[in-house]
Amino acid sequence: MDKVGIGLVGCGTVGSGLVRNLPEANRLLQQRLGIGLEIRAVAVRDLAKQREGLPIPPVADWKAVISNPAVQIVVELLGGTKDSFEVAKAAISAGKPLVTANKALLAERGQELIPLAQKAGVPIYFEASVAGGIPVLKALREGLVANQLLGLHGIINGTCNYILSRMAEEGSDFAPALQQAKELGYAEADDRLDVDGIDAAHKAAILCLLAYGFLPPFPKVPVEGIRSLAAQDVSFARQLGYTIKLLAVVRPVGADRAEVRVSPTLIPARHPMAAVHGVFNAVSLVGNLSGPVQFTGRGAGPDATSSALLADLGEAARHLRDKSPGPVLPAGGDKIRLIEPGDSVGRFYVRFDVRDQPGVLAQIAGIFGTEKIGISSVLQPEGHGADSVPLVFLLEPAKESSLQKAVAAVQKLPLNRAPARILRVEDLA
Ligand SMILES: NC(=O)c1ccc[n+]([C@@H]2O[C@H](COP(=O)([O-])OP(=O)(O)OC[C@H]3O[C@@H](n4cnc5c(N)ncnc54)[C@H](OP(=O)(O)O)[C@@H]3O)[C@@H](O)[C@H]2O)c1
Repeated sequence: MDKVGIGLVGCGTVGSGLVRNLPEANRLLQQRLGIGLEIRAVAVRDLAKQREGLPIPPVADWKAVISNPAVQIVVELLGGTKDSFEVAKAAISAGKPLVTANKALLAERGQELIPLAQKAGVPIYFEASVAGGIPVLKALREGLVANQLLGLHGIINGTCNYILSRMAEEGSDFAPALQQAKELGYAEADDRLDVDGIDAAHKAAILCLLAYGFLPPFPKVPVEGIRSLAAQDVSFARQLGYTIKLLAVVRPVGADRAEVRVSPTLIPARHPMAAVHGVFNAVSLVGNLSGPVQFTGRGAGPDATSSALLADLGEAARHLRDKSPGPVLPAGGDKIRLIEPGDSVGRFYVRFDVRDQPGVLAQIAGIFGTEKIGISSVLQPEGHGADSVPLVFLLEPAKESSLQKAVAAVQKLPLNRAPARILRVEDLA
């Protein structure tokens, strides 16, 4: 078969990694799939930038890449949701399969894009959008397709995992750990997408699409990042036998609802997910037939992302050659809705800062009792005469709305000195 022509729209960190890795990968794709890929057009924003290894001079107009008759597959590597959406739409109108690493595009505009692609019969491949080198979307689409997924947990933002690992190992606060991540190139200058949990929520939404055929409306996905996490909570969590990770949760609730959220979460220190450190990612899921399955690997970076992009390119090229169908998304998700956040049931960690006086513990325990929330553990460090002391509760499963009611009641007491810190707890499979 002649080589398949690919057009890159965007050639930054990920695109230049793809360019660098293509020659060796081509040898393997040829040997294993009988497929060869060739870069035939590239668009970038700044033509003056030095770029190593590009086989052809880039252009500034991405439309020229898509309309180039030698380009059969379009690879969108711009990022963002605006221009990238136009690129995706143009590739679909041109009938050219689209490969993308762009989780924001899929999560925020997939509800527009996927029907367009389905109507046109043009496949979209997006393995690289979630957990870089871990082929988790393919596992959901293929290897686990006969399973009911009972739940999925993910550590899917390497920047946050690096920062949390530093905080846990060194007892440091968030700010110095973030600074360290920036110095090592693990965090962007604009850290909001990563640190505020949005990037992980994009990926959680895509995992939900693959798991249940339901792409949640992105603005309704509850997201909390790690910016306000205090070193003392990392330390209290450890004393209780837990580690704090930025955790994405995707799970069914009854027959027609799903819970999707991202938040800093206590997970048992003995669980394998707790041993996933630094920029590594992990996805742990439970299938009704497979039982627990866990994937760990590099979640980002040019090489790990190339691994997913090249696999998708191989599949897209086979689609063109063999007329094989594109990636199938599970059907039946159109009746599913997100649960209301207050209906979420789970365990919670709550730290109050209270006046150091007798009877405080009993008063707060009484309020939890009124809301029928059981207490599993309490940490009550000695105050040594300080004006306020932390009082930490690890709670039995409760509805979030009941928990919020109880916390609000405690915060009205004169003994309460500061807003409570609430964190989720997941005991995992
Ligand atoms: N970085 C990772 O490890 C990673 C991992 C997984 C997924 N992703 C996703 O991969 C995508 C690309 O990420 P990246 O890190 O490679 O981003 P990046 O380094 O910022 O690269 C973006 C590229 O797009 C080009 N570009 C931007 N707007 C353009 C326009 N209107 N017309 C033509 N070219 C334009 C830029 O041109 P210039 O070079 O001239 O600036 C640059 O080459 C994003 O969706 C990201 O979320 C990234």
